[in-house]
Amino acid sequence: MKIGMASDHAGYEYKTRLVELLKKKGYEVVDFGTDSEVSCDYPDYAHPLAEAVEKGKVDLGVALCGTGNGMSITLNKHQGVRAGLAWNSEIGRLVKAHNNANVLVMPARFISYPMATRILNTWLSTQFEGGRHQRRIDKIPV
Ligand code: RB5
Repeated sequence: MKIGMASDHAGYEYKTRLVELLKKKGYEVVDFGTDSEVSCDYPDYAHPLAEAVEKGKVDLGVALCGTGNGMSITLNKHQGVRAGLAWNSEIGRLVKAHNNANVLVMPARFISYPMATRILNTWLSTQFEGGRHQRRIDKIPV
């Protein structure tokens, strides 16, 4: 399982820690940046992650910015991406079970690091439920 990760400066610290956590768990991780806490623009990192997901170069993605909204809005411009924003572990479960999000987005400035790990672990271990949720997902593309 290969996971792509991206953040802006606001999500950099959590991204760095989550990259190490995922590697320890045995995941292959591709880090699309950013590489420091120097102020930067989230689309510069969201688009490369989204393209990797669309092309199948990574299986799933994880993205962080301050609120999670800049990353979510940008990632969801890509047809092959369903990016879901989660700020607690129940939403992390539902965004996979119901929305089959292939990119998890978290608001680094509004959650603790332990919460970020709980959300990520829950999202990774949850299965998509299909059925009526698949029907709804099929209606998303414009
Ligand atoms: C950066 O200051 C902040 O605007 C960004 O991380 C994010 O919250 C944007 O949606």
